[in-house]
Amino acid sequence: MGSQRSSMPSIFYIYRCISSITRNRRYQLHILITIIIYLIIYIYIQVKLIPTNRNSISCKNYSQNLVLNIKEKNESFQILPSVKIYTEQRVILNQSNVINISQETRLRYSFIDIDALNINTNFLDEIYHPSTNFNIKFPSSNSHSYSRLLNMKGNSSTILYNRIPQCYEFTMGLLLKHVSYLHSFTYIPSQIYTPFSYNQTSLISIARSLTNHKYNRLLYERHIYFFDFSNLTFSEHPVWINLVRDPIYRIALDFNNSREICRLTNRCFVNNNTINDTLDKCVLKYPPHVCISQENGVSKMIPFFCGLTHSIKCQDDSTFALKQAKQNIDFFYTVIGIAEEFYSFLYVLEKLFPQYFKHARLIYMNTRDSHQLADNRDVNIQLPNKITIKLLEPYLKDEYELYNYIKRRFLDQYRILTEMDN
Ligand SMILES: *[C@@H]1O[C@H](CO)[C@@H](O)[C@H](O)[C@H]1NC(C)=O
Ligand SMILES: *[C@@H]1O[C@H](CO)[C@@H](O)[C@H](O)[C@H]1NC(C)=O
Ligand SMILES: *[C@@H]1O[C@H](CO)[C@@H](O)[C@H](O)[C@H]1NC(C)=O
Ligand SMILES: *[C@@H]1O[C@H](CO)[C@@H](O)[C@H](O)[C@H]1NC(C)=O
Ligand SMILES: *[C@@H]1O[C@H](CO)[C@@H](O)[C@H](O)[C@H]1NC(C)=O
Ligand SMILES: *[C@@H]1O[C@H](CO)[C@@H](O)[C@H](O)[C@H]1NC(C)=O
Ligand SMILES: *[C@@H]1O[C@H](CO)[C@@H](O)[C@H](O)[C@H]1NC(C)=O
Ligand SMILES: *[C@@H]1O[C@H](CO)[C@@H](O)[C@H](O)[C@H]1NC(C)=O
Ligand SMILES: *[C@@H]1O[C@H](CO)[C@@H](O)[C@H](O)[C@H]1NC(C)=O
Ligand SMILES: *[C@@H]1O[C@H](CO)[C@@H](O)[C@H](O)[C@H]1NC(C)=O
Repeated sequence: MGSQRSSMPSIFYIYRCISSITRNRRYQLHILITIIIYLIIYIYIQVKLIPTNRNSISCKNYSQNLVLNIKEKNESFQILPSVKIYTEQRVILNQSNVINISQETRLRYSFIDIDALNINTNFLDEIYHPSTNFNIKFPSSNSHSYSRLLNMKGNSSTILYNRIPQCYEFTMGLLLKHVSYLHSFTYIPSQIYTPFSYNQTSLISIARSLTNHKYNRLLYERHIYFFDFSNLTFSEHPVWINLVRDPIYRIALDFNNSREICRLTNRCFVNNNTINDTLDKCVLKYPPHVCISQENGVSKMIPFFCGLTHSIKCQDDSTFALKQAKQNIDFFYTVIGIAEEFYSFLYVLEKLFPQYFKHARLIYMNTRDSHQLADNRDVNIQLPNKITIKLLEPYLKDEYELYNYIKRRFLDQYRILTEMDN
């Protein structure tokens, strides 16, 4: 396993070294083809050699999982010390780069990934001067619908992925780890899991931390509701992306996992009366909407897009929340994939952000065994029974409407891009 983990990065490393030496396009193409052939041979050998226990690392323990992740980074850091100049991500691990920040400041900015983003906290303490110089282009209504759909909606030197719980998180996380390595961009999955919403003062600090990091290209991933940089009077906003999945699958997984985390780690975001229940049992004891509420450890998708400008109204099931969510999606989200079409999602990412996602599909197809490409933790779902689903349906109407809206939009983007390809 160790050798497998270290040989994947070494291929990326060779690719990067060569592509930085030879700027000539034709050479690059030749080298690329050589590398692809090499990859195919390598994968063939790996599939032959390695038994299929890649997904069997038990990661039920959330905090243990985090430590594992960090250890893994540390490990590859030691194996490939020469790579660290190229991969910005690794610079974080150099202890002497960590700024000495007082405990008091850390507490005050506990909602910011200070170390990972390598933020100068003095800057955060300075008074924020709103910008009057807006650099934000909203899609004009008379532009062609294709260009509206495929526009880069923000400055792509920072990508914000406001991850929704239980939407292929593990599959996407591993992929991002690999592509960030391949393309030398910084990928920071936030270590802050809750809350998803913040007041305006805190949001300004978060937004500042994301506009003043020292990285050339950053993909920042965090469970946080959408927030509008222009409403906070920033002159630019980053590119937003996301990934959603069929609501009933997401809810089944969220219900179970919140209880699992509570039982195993005592990090409980659920009503402890329902801690041992399945969703089927819960709807027999309580009204259905209670079982799928935030208080019971099941998050909603709509507020992730409706956002924090109208924070309270966005928490309600309302036509307002749905409408605002759709509007934010149209204005600010360059792409929102659907887990059910994950491969197509990668295709769209490759086309729209080649500097981040080129070869993403190749990597995806080759990092796991061919029987199951997605992470087990993302697909091992026991759906509730038909009666429960029927009971929940009326309460999921808006979630489904938004999901279908996103799905249509995504499939349109996919179709246009494939047509342009042919
Ligand atoms: C979860 O992980 C933490 C840190 O590694 C450990 O202290 C704790 O005992 C673990 N809990 C379980 C239930 O494994
Ligand atoms: C990384 O490795 C160094 C030494 O090899 C060790 O001191 C440090 O604790 C490790 N960091 C993590 C987060 O495991
Ligand atoms: C860490 O960074 C400092 C300068 O920022 C550098 O002098 C030192 O060599 C680096 N350490 C390692 C292990 O790369
Ligand atoms: C960090 O700051 C603390 C107190 O602010 C101080 O005691 C400590 O010596 C500092 N450490 C370094 C490495 O500067
Ligand atoms: C995007 O942001 C980067 C870094 O903040 C900046 O250097 C660049 O000029 C911006 N690009 C555009 C098109 O505004
Ligand atoms: C905003 O929230 C922070 C904590 O995240 C809190 O310290 C601060 O007092 C709040 N500010 C306002 C104006 O409510
Ligand atoms: C931000 O949104 C609020 C609520 O809609 C609005 O009152 C305020 O004027 C907006 N601010 C800016 C700068 O757009
Ligand atoms: C549920 O949690 C509350 C406080 O969080 C505690 O007082 C109560 O005893 C718990 N009930 C059960 C059945 O564990
Ligand atoms: C849940 O199950 C555990 C272990 O079986 C038990 O100790 C606990 O009392 C149960 N809690 C509830 C609320 O039924
Ligand atoms: C709940 O999740 C755990 C581990 O995350 C899994 O072992 C179990 O089968 C799941 N239960 C259901 C009903 O999906």
